[in-house]
Amino acid sequence: MAKYAVGVIGTGAQPGGNEETGMAMGYRHGDSYQVLESCELVGCADVVPENAKKFADTFGIEVANTYTDHVEMLRDVDLDIVSITTPIPTHAPIVLDCANEGDLRAIHSEKPIADRWGDAKLITQECARQGIQLTIDHQLRFSEPVERAMALIEDGAVGEVRRVEASRRDLFEAGIHQLDLCSYFTGDVPAAWVLGAIDYREEERRNGVHIEGQALALWQYENGVYGLISTGHGMDSIGALNRVVGTNGEIELDFWSDEPLRIRRTGKGWETIDCDYGNPLEEGVAHVVNCLDSDKEPLLSARRALIGTELAFGIYESVRRRGRVDLPLDIDDNPLVTMIESGDLDLA
Ligand SMILES: NC(=O)c1ccc[n+]([C@@H]2O[C@H](COP(=O)([O-])OP(=O)(O)OC[C@H]3O[C@@H](n4cnc5c(N)ncnc54)[C@H](O)[C@@H]3O)[C@@H](O)[C@H]2O)c1
Repeated sequence: MAKYAVGVIGTGAQPGGNEETGMAMGYRHGDSYQVLESCELVGCADVVPENAKKFADTFGIEVANTYTDHVEMLRDVDLDIVSITTPIPTHAPIVLDCANEGDLRAIHSEKPIADRWGDAKLITQECARQGIQLTIDHQLRFSEPVERAMALIEDGAVGEVRRVEASRRDLFEAGIHQLDLCSYFTGDVPAAWVLGAIDYREEERRNGVHIEGQALALWQYENGVYGLISTGHGMDSIGALNRVVGTNGEIELDFWSDEPLRIRRTGKGWETIDCDYGNPLEEGVAHVVNCLDSDKEPLLSARRALIGTELAFGIYESVRRRGRVDLPLDIDDNPLVTMIESGDLDLA
């Protein structure tokens, strides 16, 4: 018998979707648990009944354990682990329901952790208080390019890390992965300050959150390492999705290109490191489950996730304050949303 009973909240309509139709990340999580001998999928919930039913059929979940209301599932089904793969604004309330209504060992939620800074901190604290392992699916940490890059950094291949750089479509919905990797390459220490600018001339939303058209920001971690990000219309200025600049060279990561990883050591030309993307989501789930049997803090822990998340909200806050923001952040809201609602960010 499997050791851990697993439930999924927010199954999605069907696998193989895209950003417009929904990516059905629930299926990706489901596949990842299904390959683990220690886990058995025994429950699922989705507000759309057909979605829950289809997911249950796919993964052999009993009809009786298929719900449209996740709270009912948490009360009725004896679960150890829950994956949350719903739209972003629902993450925090569903994590709290899981913590309060279930008797869980672990919650593995999709990114970003929450759509307001106060909620991100609250659910992290509440799960820690109740001894529940809360992890966030910043799965790129388990991609092969990142694993190889970390090994090179730890071997001193680029000397001491001095600056991390990132680019992506936006700061928060997709770019949270890049901000998270900046933290990872810097040793998961919090940032000390952040200074940022954004442009929001056209309204755009993804997965239930507003995303800016363009952002540019500089920050410094408590260990002195600098960070730099450019998103949206200006993202090409960086030239890679993530870059690590050290005293003796630099590493570039471009996950989905022909050259996912390359290194330039001082005095030498660029060297391509042969590697694939791998299956980081599956590896991340396996890691999260394994951590339940050890005292190790997961690489995807909510504490680590908060570092990149604080940067995203900190950049929005810097725009609101029109200046540098010293961290830790002392706000609870999502400053981007507050500024849009108050008219402070004028749409053209
Ligand atoms: N880690 C990654 O690389 C990655 C990639 C894509 C999406 N995501 C994240 O995954 C999450 C889901 O995205 P998706 O593309 O899979 O969405 P999706 O629309 O395909 O699936 C979400 C499902 O949640 C259901 N749902 C909505 N509210 C619910 C609620 N309150 N209770 C139960 N079910 C509810 C919807 O009916 C839908 O079936 C988002 O947070 C997104 O940011 C992460």
